[in-house]
Order: sequence, then C-alpha cells, then structure tokens
Amino acid sequence: MTLLQIADLRVAYPGPGGPVEVLHGVDIEVAAGGRVALVGESGSGKSVTARSVLRLDADARVSGTVRLAGTDLLPLPAKRMRAVRGSRIGLVFQDPLAALNPVMTVGWQICQPLVIRGVPRRTARRRGIALLRDLGVRDAAERFDDYPHQFSGGMRQRVVIAIAVIAEPELLIADEPTTALDVRVQAQVLELLTGLADERGMAVLLITHDLGIVAGFAEQVVVMRHGRVVERGATDDIYYRPTHPYTRGLLGAVPRIDADPAVRLATVPEEEPVEPGPDATATATATAAPAPAPAPASTNEVTAP
Ligand SMILES: Nc1ncnc2c1ncn2[C@@H]1O[C@H](COP(=O)(O)OP(=O)(O)OP(=O)(O)O)[C@@H](O)[C@H]1O
Ligand SMILES: [Mg+2]
Repeated sequence: MTLLQIADLRVAYPGPGGPVEVLHGVDIEVAAGGRVALVGESGSGKSVTARSVLRLDADARVSGTVRLAGTDLLPLPAKRMRAVRGSRIGLVFQDPLAALNPVMTVGWQICQPLVIRGVPRRTARRRGIALLRDLGVRDAAERFDDYPHQFSGGMRQRVVIAIAVIAEPELLIADEPTTALDVRVQAQVLELLTGLADERGMAVLLITHDLGIVAGFAEQVVVMRHGRVVERGATDDIYYRPTHPYTRGLLGAVPRIDADPAVRLATVPEEEPVEPGPDATATATATAAPAPAPAPASTNEVTAP
C-alpha cells in the first residue's frame, strides 16, 4: 500500500523578478512501512521536497499533490495540517541544533507533541524517558531535565529523533539526520532509526547526500538533481546498474575501501542534460563507478514526459 504519494510537485519562491521555481514536477512514493532514500547534490531540492510535504514554507507557491494514505495534504485547512505534523508525519530537520529550543529542557521538548494532543504530562514524561533510553541515552531520567547545550551532537540528534517519533507517526522524514555526526555515531543513529522503524512499522524517507549510508538502509532510492528526479529504482539496481550519468557520477565519487588507488574518484559533470534524452547513458563520464556496465534495458532512469 502506498502511504505517501508525491505527484508533480512544483515549488516556487518569490524572487526579485517574480516567482522562481525550484522543484519542477517531483514524483516520489513511499510504501507503508517502506524505506526510501532521497539523494542528490546540495541544492537539488531534497529539503524543499520535505518541507513542502509538511507545508512548512509560508512563502512557497506549491502545486501538485501530496497524498498521505489517499488524502491530499496541500489543500487541507491549516488546523488539520497541524494535526498531520508530528502525529502522522514526523520530521527530523537537517540542522539538529536549530531544531531545538535552547531555553527549554530536552524533556519538555520531547513531551510537547504528546502534551498538545492531550496526553497527561506524567504519562508523556514516562514515555519520553523510555524513548530516550531506547535511543541509547544513558541515565535518560536524569538527563531529561537538562538543556540542549548540555548534550553532545550525537545525543542532541537522538533528542531530535525522539521529538519526531514520540507521537508514533506513520512516516518519518529524516533530512540528513546524521550529517553533523562522526561516522561511528552516524552508524549508531542510523541503526536506531532502522530499529525504531521496524518495531513500529514506520515508513522512512531518508534524505542524504551520503550514498555510503543508503545501501544498508533503503529499499528504494530516488535521485534528484536541479529540482527534478533523474533516476529511481530498487537500491541494488541503482548501485549496480545506474543508468543516469549523474547517478553514475555520484556513485563514482564515493570513496571505496576496495578501490584501485590508481583510479581517481569521479567528479560529477556540471554541464546539465536537464531533460535526459534516451541516449543519456552514452555520455556517462564516471571513471570509478562501482558497476561500469550499463544496464541493457534498465528502467531506473526517469525520462522526461
Ligand atoms: N526558502 C527559500 N527561498 C528561496 N529559495 C530557496 C528556499 N529554500 C530553498 N531554496 C532554493 O531551493 C533549491 C533547493 O534547495 P534545498 O534546500 O532543497 O537543497 P538540498 O537538496 O536540500 O541541498 P543540501 O544537500 O545542501 O541540503 C536551492 O536552489 C535553494 O537555494
Ligand atoms: Mg537540504
């Protein structure tokens, strides 16, 4: 069953000479309980996609459809939209520090999504402490009344995840949840997310530009560039049979421990085949892509209508 269905999503922001479109018709689907990675270089539109699903940018002009279990969120009245945020879709923001309020205790912030839904404070507190403990925070009960600045980066990220999932949403959108962390903590946080998603049957849309963490996490990968989806498919197909030159470039740019040191990492070409033509794979320039052989009849590549 499809839980989230984003179709022909277009987003424009006001610019000095009129609205500037930054998303040009994005289609993404996430199955109930599924795990999808949204990847792409900086500025490709990943965060705008996430924020538009939750309608967080008041000045954005958004069109298309964003269906959650069949209901289009874009025309929903503000009040009903507020009920979707947090309880049905949790969001882990890209910048964990900015997402936390420095003058409120972490416990207060974790409990808030429950308290505003009428859960008694004591119950919310008990659930918050249990969740924080599940997320690997030692002495969770004592740390509950600390302030964000008393937590390390990795611990703060766990707090941010706790806030996003405490109300047990069906979908978690995690925007670069591990970028600010060192690799060891990155792996831990990702493992926690995976465990939590499995346990609760929660779907996850993981936004990242780190292809290294995608393979073990996602079943499906969607690749964006310049506000468009340029490739999509099962994770293995994307890794071993990438069809779009940009995806091949991205994969070629991932350092691999088993790589031949004589082969240089690829750079992604800047010249832009905005609407990839049918022979786009012929122009692939990646030199160290893990799977140099092009897929004969792969359907990963998203062709322009
Ligand atoms: N509030 C805004 N107003 C105007 N333009 C914006 C706004 N937010 C994003 N943009 C533009 O939209 C484009 C996509 O930005 P977005 O933040 O989605 O990229 P991203 O893929 O998340 O990149 P990164 O990996 O660096 O986080 C960029 O060109 C950005 O400048
Ligand atoms: Mg972003």
